[in-house]
Amino acid sequence: MTRAVDAALEYAIPRIGITAARLLDPDLVGQAHHPRGPAGRLTAWEMAHRPSNRRRCIWAVSLLDVQPTDQVLEIGYGPGVAIAALARVGAAHVYGVDHSGVMHHHATRRNAAAVRAGRVTLLRASVDEIPPEIGPFDAILAVNALGFWSAPTERLTRLRQQLTPGGCIAIVSQPRCPGATAKTSRNAARDIETLLIQAGLSNTRTQTLLLDPPAVCVIATASPQNRGAEP
Ligand SMILES: C[S@@+](CC[C@H](N)C(=O)[O-])C[C@H]1O[C@@H](n2cnc3c(N)ncnc32)[C@H](O)[C@@H]1O
Repeated sequence: MTRAVDAALEYAIPRIGITAARLLDPDLVGQAHHPRGPAGRLTAWEMAHRPSNRRRCIWAVSLLDVQPTDQVLEIGYGPGVAIAALARVGAAHVYGVDHSGVMHHHATRRNAAAVRAGRVTLLRASVDEIPPEIGPFDAILAVNALGFWSAPTERLTRLRQQLTPGGCIAIVSQPRCPGATAKTSRNAARDIETLLIQAGLSNTRTQTLLLDPPAVCVIATASPQNRGAEP
Protein backbone atom coordinates (compact mmCIF):
# COMPACT_ATOMS: atom_id res chain seq x y z
CA MET A 1 0.00 0.00 0.00
CA THR A 2 2.73 2.47 1.06
CA ARG A 3 4.70 1.52 -2.05
CA ALA A 4 1.72 2.21 -4.29
CA VAL A 5 1.13 5.58 -2.61
CA ASP A 6 4.83 6.43 -2.94
CA ALA A 7 4.81 5.49 -6.62
CA ALA A 8 1.72 7.63 -7.21
CA LEU A 9 3.30 10.60 -5.39
CA GLU A 10 6.60 10.10 -7.22
CA TYR A 11 4.66 10.33 -10.48
CA ALA A 12 2.31 13.16 -9.57
CA ILE A 13 4.39 15.59 -7.47
CA PRO A 14 7.04 16.49 -10.06
CA ARG A 15 4.40 16.75 -12.78
CA ILE A 16 2.26 19.12 -10.72
CA GLY A 17 5.21 21.04 -9.23
CA ILE A 18 7.29 21.33 -12.38
CA THR A 19 4.37 22.13 -14.68
CA ALA A 20 3.14 24.88 -12.39
CA ALA A 21 6.66 26.25 -11.79
CA ARG A 22 7.33 26.29 -15.56
CA LEU A 23 4.22 28.41 -16.12
CA LEU A 24 5.66 30.98 -13.71
CA ASP A 25 9.28 30.73 -14.84
CA PRO A 26 10.41 28.67 -17.86
CA ASP A 27 14.00 28.59 -16.52
CA LEU A 28 13.63 25.44 -14.38
CA VAL A 29 17.37 24.74 -14.19
CA GLY A 30 17.84 28.32 -12.98
CA GLN A 31 15.14 27.68 -10.36
CA ALA A 32 16.87 24.48 -9.16
CA HIS A 33 20.13 26.49 -8.94
CA HIS A 34 18.64 29.49 -7.17
CA PRO A 35 14.96 29.07 -6.28
CA ARG A 36 13.23 32.45 -6.09
CA GLY A 37 9.76 34.02 -6.24
CA PRO A 38 6.53 32.03 -6.66
CA ALA A 39 8.21 29.45 -8.95
CA GLY A 40 10.87 28.96 -6.26
CA ARG A 41 8.17 28.28 -3.67
CA LEU A 42 6.70 25.58 -5.93
CA THR A 43 10.19 24.14 -6.42
CA ALA A 44 10.62 24.01 -2.64
CA TRP A 45 7.27 22.23 -2.26
CA GLU A 46 8.22 19.71 -4.93
CA MET A 47 11.64 19.01 -3.38
CA ALA A 48 10.16 18.61 0.09
CA HIS A 49 7.41 16.18 -0.92
CA ARG A 50 8.75 14.10 -3.81
CA PRO A 51 9.36 10.66 -2.21
CA SER A 52 12.69 10.05 -3.99
CA ASN A 53 14.02 13.43 -2.79
CA ARG A 54 13.04 12.68 0.79
CA ARG A 55 14.43 9.14 0.64
CA ARG A 56 17.81 10.18 -0.76
CA CYS A 57 18.21 12.91 1.89
CA ILE A 58 17.37 10.58 4.79
CA TRP A 59 19.56 7.81 3.31
CA ALA A 60 22.51 10.22 2.92
CA VAL A 61 22.24 11.21 6.58
CA SER A 62 22.15 7.54 7.62
CA LEU A 63 25.53 7.01 5.90
CA LEU A 64 27.27 9.65 8.02
CA ASP A 65 27.19 7.70 11.31
CA VAL A 66 26.54 10.94 13.19
CA GLN A 67 27.74 10.99 16.80
CA PRO A 68 26.24 13.08 19.63
CA THR A 69 29.35 15.31 19.71
CA ASP A 70 29.37 15.99 15.95
CA GLN A 71 29.21 19.41 14.32
CA VAL A 72 27.70 18.88 10.87
CA LEU A 73 27.28 21.23 7.91
CA GLU A 74 24.92 20.83 4.96
CA ILE A 75 25.43 22.93 1.85
CA GLY A 76 22.43 23.61 -0.38
CA TYR A 77 19.87 22.46 2.20
CA GLY A 78 16.87 23.33 -0.01
CA PRO A 79 13.62 22.85 1.94
CA GLY A 80 15.57 21.35 4.87
CA VAL A 81 14.70 17.63 4.74
CA ALA A 82 18.27 16.43 5.40
CA ILE A 83 18.74 19.14 8.05
CA ALA A 84 15.72 17.71 9.91
CA ALA A 85 17.16 14.18 9.62
CA LEU A 86 20.56 15.36 10.94
CA ALA A 87 18.87 16.95 13.96
CA ARG A 88 16.81 13.77 14.48
CA VAL A 89 19.85 11.46 14.52
CA GLY A 90 21.31 13.58 17.30
CA ALA A 91 24.15 15.74 15.92
CA ALA A 92 25.44 18.17 18.55
CA HIS A 93 24.87 21.05 16.13
CA VAL A 94 23.68 21.21 12.55
CA TYR A 95 24.66 24.16 10.33
CA GLY A 96 23.26 24.77 6.88
CA VAL A 97 24.10 27.22 4.11
CA ASP A 98 21.93 27.90 1.06
CA HIS A 99 21.94 31.09 -1.00
CA SER A 100 18.20 31.04 -1.72
CA GLY A 101 15.93 33.20 0.43
CA VAL A 102 12.95 30.99 -0.47
CA MET A 103 14.79 27.86 0.71
CA HIS A 104 16.00 29.63 3.85
CA HIS A 105 12.38 30.43 4.68
CA HIS A 106 11.11 26.88 3.98
CA ALA A 107 13.95 25.10 5.80
CA THR A 108 13.62 27.42 8.81
CA ARG A 109 9.91 26.67 9.02
CA ARG A 110 10.46 22.92 8.65
CA ASN A 111 13.10 22.95 11.44
CA ALA A 112 11.56 25.66 13.62
CA ALA A 113 11.71 23.71 16.90
CA ALA A 114 15.36 22.69 16.47
CA VAL A 115 16.31 26.25 15.43
CA ARG A 116 14.55 27.63 18.52
CA ALA A 117 16.31 25.02 20.69
CA GLY A 118 19.67 26.25 19.35
CA ARG A 119 20.52 22.88 17.75
CA VAL A 120 20.23 24.03 14.12
CA THR A 121 21.62 27.20 12.52
CA LEU A 122 20.47 27.96 8.97
CA LEU A 123 22.36 30.62 7.08
CA ARG A 124 21.44 32.30 3.83
CA ALA A 125 24.82 32.27 2.16
CA SER A 126 26.67 30.90 -0.82
CA VAL A 127 29.11 28.00 -0.52
CA ASP A 128 31.73 30.65 -1.43
CA GLU A 129 31.03 32.65 1.74
CA ILE A 130 30.81 30.19 4.63
CA PRO A 131 31.58 32.30 7.70
CA PRO A 132 35.02 31.39 9.12
CA GLU A 133 33.66 31.48 12.68
CA ILE A 134 31.59 28.30 12.20
CA GLY A 135 33.23 24.86 12.25
CA PRO A 136 35.39 22.87 12.21
CA PHE A 137 32.96 20.15 11.11
CA ASP A 138 33.00 16.40 11.66
CA ALA A 139 30.92 15.90 8.53
CA ILE A 140 29.91 18.04 5.56
CA LEU A 141 27.03 16.97 3.30
CA ALA A 142 25.75 18.24 -0.04
CA VAL A 143 22.78 16.58 -1.80
CA ASN A 144 22.21 17.41 -5.48
CA ALA A 145 23.99 20.70 -4.92
CA LEU A 146 27.63 20.42 -6.02
CA GLY A 147 26.68 20.57 -9.72
CA PHE A 148 25.70 24.22 -9.19
CA TRP A 149 28.98 25.39 -7.63
CA SER A 150 31.47 27.38 -9.63
CA ALA A 151 35.04 26.08 -9.19
CA PRO A 152 34.04 22.90 -7.28
CA THR A 153 37.64 21.76 -6.66
CA GLU A 154 38.47 25.07 -4.96
CA ARG A 155 35.25 24.93 -2.92
CA LEU A 156 35.93 21.32 -1.84
CA THR A 157 39.53 22.21 -0.93
CA ARG A 158 38.26 25.05 1.28
CA LEU A 159 35.66 22.70 2.81
CA ARG A 160 38.34 20.11 3.53
CA GLN A 161 40.20 22.80 5.45
CA GLN A 162 37.06 23.28 7.57
CA LEU A 163 36.93 19.59 8.59
CA THR A 164 38.17 18.17 11.87
CA PRO A 165 41.10 15.75 11.46
CA GLY A 166 39.55 12.55 10.10
CA GLY A 167 36.26 14.31 9.30
CA CYS A 168 34.37 13.48 6.13
CA ILE A 169 32.67 15.07 3.14
CA ALA A 170 29.68 13.27 1.56
CA ILE A 171 28.50 14.36 -1.86
CA VAL A 172 25.22 12.93 -3.15
CA SER A 173 23.97 13.02 -6.72
CA GLN A 174 20.74 11.77 -8.20
CA PRO A 175 20.87 12.96 -11.81
CA ARG A 176 17.61 14.69 -12.72
CA CYS A 177 18.40 15.38 -16.38
CA PRO A 178 15.90 13.90 -18.87
CA GLY A 179 16.76 10.29 -19.77
CA ALA A 180 19.12 9.79 -16.78
CA THR A 181 19.93 6.12 -16.12
CA ALA A 182 22.05 4.05 -13.75
CA LYS A 183 24.99 4.77 -16.06
CA THR A 184 24.46 8.54 -15.61
CA SER A 185 24.59 8.00 -11.83
CA ARG A 186 27.77 5.89 -12.08
CA ASN A 187 29.43 8.57 -14.20
CA ALA A 188 28.38 11.23 -11.69
CA ALA A 189 29.96 9.19 -8.87
CA ARG A 190 33.22 8.91 -10.81
CA ASP A 191 33.31 12.68 -11.43
CA ILE A 192 32.62 13.42 -7.75
CA GLU A 193 35.35 11.02 -6.65
CA THR A 194 37.85 12.77 -8.94
CA LEU A 195 36.92 16.18 -7.51
CA LEU A 196 37.25 14.95 -3.92
CA ILE A 197 40.70 13.49 -4.59
CA GLN A 198 41.79 16.69 -6.36
CA ALA A 199 40.68 18.57 -3.24
CA GLY A 200 43.06 16.53 -1.08
CA LEU A 201 40.60 14.05 0.41
CA SER A 202 41.15 10.29 0.48
CA ASN A 203 39.58 6.91 1.32
CA THR A 204 36.71 7.54 -1.07
CA ARG A 205 33.84 5.06 -1.03
CA THR A 206 30.63 5.11 -3.03
CA GLN A 207 27.20 3.98 -1.86
CA THR A 208 24.17 3.60 -4.10
CA LEU A 209 20.46 3.91 -3.32
CA LEU A 210 18.35 2.09 -5.87
CA LEU A 211 15.99 4.83 -6.98
CA ASP A 212 15.15 5.60 -10.60
CA PRO A 213 17.75 6.73 -11.49
CA PRO A 214 19.94 5.63 -8.55
CA ALA A 215 21.26 8.15 -6.05
CA VAL A 216 25.01 7.86 -5.41
CA CYS A 217 26.86 9.13 -2.36
CA VAL A 218 30.64 9.49 -2.47
CA ILE A 219 32.20 9.86 0.98
CA ALA A 220 35.82 10.87 1.46
CA THR A 221 37.83 11.60 4.58
CA ALA A 222 40.39 14.18 5.57
CA SER A 223 43.72 12.91 6.84
CA PRO A 224 44.27 12.72 10.62
CA GLN A 225 46.67 15.68 10.23
CA ASN A 226 44.13 17.71 8.25
CA ARG A 227 43.75 21.41 9.03
CA GLY A 228 44.27 24.03 6.42
CA ALA A 229 47.13 22.39 4.53
CA GLU A 230 47.06 22.57 0.74
CA PRO A 231 46.68 19.17 -1.00
C1 LIG B 1 18.52 20.85 -6.38
S1 LIG B 1 18.40 21.72 -4.86
C2 LIG B 1 18.70 20.40 -3.68
C3 LIG B 1 18.11 20.70 -2.35
C4 LIG B 1 18.28 19.61 -1.28
N1 LIG B 1 19.67 19.36 -0.99
C5 LIG B 1 17.59 18.33 -1.70
O1 LIG B 1 18.24 17.38 -2.10
O2 LIG B 1 16.35 18.32 -1.65
C6 LIG B 1 19.93 22.63 -4.83
C7 LIG B 1 20.03 23.60 -3.66
O3 LIG B 1 21.36 24.12 -3.64
C8 LIG B 1 21.29 25.53 -3.44
N2 LIG B 1 22.51 26.10 -4.05
C9 LIG B 1 22.87 26.06 -5.36
N3 LIG B 1 24.04 26.69 -5.55
C10 LIG B 1 24.45 27.13 -4.32
C11 LIG B 1 25.59 27.86 -3.87
N4 LIG B 1 26.55 28.24 -4.72
N5 LIG B 1 25.70 28.14 -2.56
C12 LIG B 1 24.70 27.76 -1.69
N6 LIG B 1 23.60 27.09 -2.07
C13 LIG B 1 23.47 26.75 -3.36
C14 LIG B 1 20.00 25.98 -4.11
O4 LIG B 1 19.53 27.19 -3.58
C15 LIG B 1 19.08 24.79 -3.80
O5 LIG B 1 18.39 24.97 -2.58
